[in-house]
Amino acid sequence: MTQTYRITLLPGDGIGPEIMAVAVDVLKAVGRQFDLSFEFQEALIGGAAIDATNSPLPEETLTTCRNSDAVLLAAIGGYKWDTLPRSQRPETGLLGLRAGLGLFANLRPATILPQLIDASSLKREVVEGVDIMVVRELTGGIYFGQPRGVFTMESGEKRGVNTMAYTDSEIDRIGRVAFETARKRQGKLCSVDKANVLEVSQLWRDRMTALAEQYPDVELSHLYVDNAAMQLLRWPKQFDTIVTGNLFGDILSDAAAMLTGSIGMLPSASLGESGPGVFEPVHGSAPDIAGQDKANPLAQVLSAAMMLRYALDQPAAATRIEKAVERVLDQGDRTGDIMSEGKNLLGCRAMGDSLLTALEALAQG
Ligand code: IPM
Ligand code: MG
Repeated sequence: MTQTYRITLLPGDGIGPEIMAVAVDVLKAVGRQFDLSFEFQEALIGGAAIDATNSPLPEETLTTCRNSDAVLLAAIGGYKWDTLPRSQRPETGLLGLRAGLGLFANLRPATILPQLIDASSLKREVVEGVDIMVVRELTGGIYFGQPRGVFTMESGEKRGVNTMAYTDSEIDRIGRVAFETARKRQGKLCSVDKANVLEVSQLWRDRMTALAEQYPDVELSHLYVDNAAMQLLRWPKQFDTIVTGNLFGDILSDAAAMLTGSIGMLPSASLGESGPGVFEPVHGSAPDIAGQDKANPLAQVLSAAMMLRYALDQPAAATRIEKAVERVLDQGDRTGDIMSEGKNLLGCRAMGDSLLTALEALAQG
């Protein structure tokens, strides 16, 4: 019997609509191959939502997302909206979506594909075989802590304030996701904090250490965030799974992504306790190349694969998509961001067509 899934599409801004179109074509194609049917509902977020409704996250979008099985998001933001007050910025829409759906766990894999080793800015021997999963806490920490704001003091001087705060239970729930994730991988978990300076980090470290007793099969280590940044560049293969707070995770996941050559290759999953997850590329909306058919759609396509695996429990269809990505790379197809000598430079749409051909060939066996 055909399985039907309700998927909310949030194409957003910049290159978002172009890469989303490719991912939708790919989903439809694997759907035909695996007898899955998708009911796609498009909704507004970010700058596109600001232009249409004055809000970066209209209530209707949240409702549509809540009523779906999973959410596929492209990217938000652009120069045009950068000067608006914070409540009307595209980023506020994304943060509202994460908070509104309770997506506290953000899984960001950084896996180097053998075909792209030469696209990395680091030496082959440093990056070959890198396979890291960053588990980033996504609805707490300094992104959401109170008090926050810019306040005028008695002297008339202004003071900007944000608060990095974590409770026991917030640390424990992201810790459990991280230990479970590490258990399914190589069984190594590195918790990253700044416990030499920050009280909130000391609590983080204490809770992670306590939690480790429940996961005797996982080897837990701790690093300060500055050292972790250095170690990621020095010898990334020492890492298997990393767990960290919202801000450190934002920074380290970009660094980890770049090890793989291009941030244009990496998907992510944001998951809550229950309800639909959001699947999105790690990269942004790249307004500088928007509308020029130059974007790399592969992170978006791989996000759709992650959605099939984590949200819809369709691992075979997910693997099919991942195989198609490998196949087009094996053929030498490249978008500009991962281009190297002797390869075929393709635009976003042509890369999509090549994926569809690869999917067809894989189905034939
Ligand atoms: C990310 C982005 C977002 C973040 C921005 C766009 C709000 O950088 O998903 O990593 O800081 O979380
Ligand atoms: Mg970021």
